[in-house]
Amino acid sequence: MTDSAQKQRKNLLIVSHSQGGKTQSMAAAVLRGCQQHPSVSTRALAAADAGLEDLLWAGGLLFGTPENFGTMSGMLKDFFDRTYYPAEPYKINLPYAIFVSSSNDGSGAVRDIQRIARGYPLREVSEPLICKGELTADRLVACEELGLGMATGIEMGIF
Ligand SMILES: Cc1cc2nc3c(=O)[nH]c(=O)nc-3n(C[C@H](O)[C@H](O)[C@H](O)COP(=O)(O)O)c2cc1C
Repeated sequence: MTDSAQKQRKNLLIVSHSQGGKTQSMAAAVLRGCQQHPSVSTRALAAADAGLEDLLWAGGLLFGTPENFGTMSGMLKDFFDRTYYPAEPYKINLPYAIFVSSSNDGSGAVRDIQRIARGYPLREVSEPLICKGELTADRLVACEELGLGMATGIEMGIF
C-alpha cells in the first residue's frame, strides 16, 4: 500500500474490548472526539466483531482494552491473532494510538500492544492513554482529546 493511498483514507477504526464497561465508556468518549471532525469517518467496533476488512478500510487505528493479568484483554489479543498474518501482504503501516483502563497499572497492556503493532507494521502517533481506577470527567475529556487528535492528524494527512 502506498503512503499516498493510505493518506487519502480519512477513516478511523476504534477496536476495543470491555468486560466491566470502563473501556467501553472510554471508547465512546474517544469516538465523540473523532466525530468532531465531520470529514473523518469513524467505525467503533468490539474487538470480536473487527477483522481484516476493517483494517483495510482504515487510515488510522485506536486500540482500547482493560489491563488483564498484566497484559491486554484476551479479546483484543484475539483480534491481533486473527488479523496479523492476513494483514501481512498489505503492509498496512497505519498510525495508531492506545487507550487502557486499569486498576493500578496498565503498562503491561501498552507494552504488549506496542510489541505486536510493530510487526504489522503500525506506527504509534500518540502517547498511550492509561486511565487508572475510577473514570473521572477529566479522564473522559482526555479520551475525547485522544480521538480528536487522531482525527485531526488523519484529516490533515500529517501522520
Ligand atoms: C481478570 C482480571 C485481571 C485484571 N488484571 C489487572 C492487572 O493486571 N492490572 C491492573 O491494573 N488491573 C487489572 N484488572 C483490573 C481491570 O483492568 C480494571 O478493572 C479495568 O478498569 C476493567 O475495565 P473494563 O471495565 O473495561 O473491563 C484486572 C481485572 C480482571 C477482571
